[in-house]
Amino acid sequence: MAEEMREKDADRAAFLKRYESVYGKDATAKEVARGKRGEAALENYAAELIAARKPTTSRVVIPSFGSTKPGRHTFAHATDIHIGSSGCDERAFCDFLDERIEEGVTVVACSGDILDGLGEKLWGEQTHQGWDAQSGRLIDILKKRKRLSWALISGNHDGYFDSVIGAEMGKVLQARLQAVGVTATYLGKAKGHCLVHGARVSMIHPHGGTSRRNGVRMVLNAYVENLVDEHPDIVLSGHFHKYAPVQMYPEATYCAGGGTFQQKATEFANRISAPWDIGGSTVSLTLGKDGKAHEISSRFYAAPRWDAVVWKAA
Ligand SMILES: [Fe+2]
Repeated sequence: MAEEMREKDADRAAFLKRYESVYGKDATAKEVARGKRGEAALENYAAELIAARKPTTSRVVIPSFGSTKPGRHTFAHATDIHIGSSGCDERAFCDFLDERIEEGVTVVACSGDILDGLGEKLWGEQTHQGWDAQSGRLIDILKKRKRLSWALISGNHDGYFDSVIGAEMGKVLQARLQAVGVTATYLGKAKGHCLVHGARVSMIHPHGGTSRRNGVRMVLNAYVENLVDEHPDIVLSGHFHKYAPVQMYPEATYCAGGGTFQQKATEFANRISAPWDIGGSTVSLTLGKDGKAHEISSRFYAAPRWDAVVWKAA
């Protein structure tokens, strides 16, 4: 062991000598200091995670590669919130938003099913029924968080309301949110496009069913392959309640299926689907000098499962 340590020290000394001969004495001192700082930071980081016994929730923020580079941007993807459903985990949704605000996030993309909608088989599983109750509840939550701007499309659950209110629910929702000072842009029914921090973002809310990560990836792959126009930088999908990031090749489009904030507690949900991913995600990108988005990555923040969120049939 002692022999090994001596060898390591000798290697390090030889390296520093070579380094010094190329970059000078000052550079060597800086290199040594950098190494020590790095070790210390790593020690503290590991100790923080272990000592606090933190669960793997959004409260643990791990900086990703390049996250502090100039031109690096992050926005949130919160989809399939299903406001009004008994399974809607409003606490996790609000915590997710508040934590992103603390991190400096200003834009949230929602790829549909922001409300639970209206449907005979949903009534028994809802805390808020009807357009006024569900949209009102959403507005109550968002108006307390005006630092966030919303880009949204409607999903199949939101679509139930189109015929009920005699208009596209997204347009009405946008107007109602703006009336209380929340910046919101409705992009369309089940599909919409926008620029976020310079990146071309497409959102979709496909039909059909799959709750397997690979199934979601196949849907995203088919969507990107079939595009005839210029490819967007990022495609975000709702509907499947399954977080599924994938880099499409050779189109160089970053795709991600989003999770949900609907805890899978209802009999109906359990019957139709495999486990869901409860939580939201962030998408990070570097906006290059060429005006294009590069180095795109995403991260999922899983909501904790607490006892309070249990669907009650009564
Ligand atoms: Fe949904």
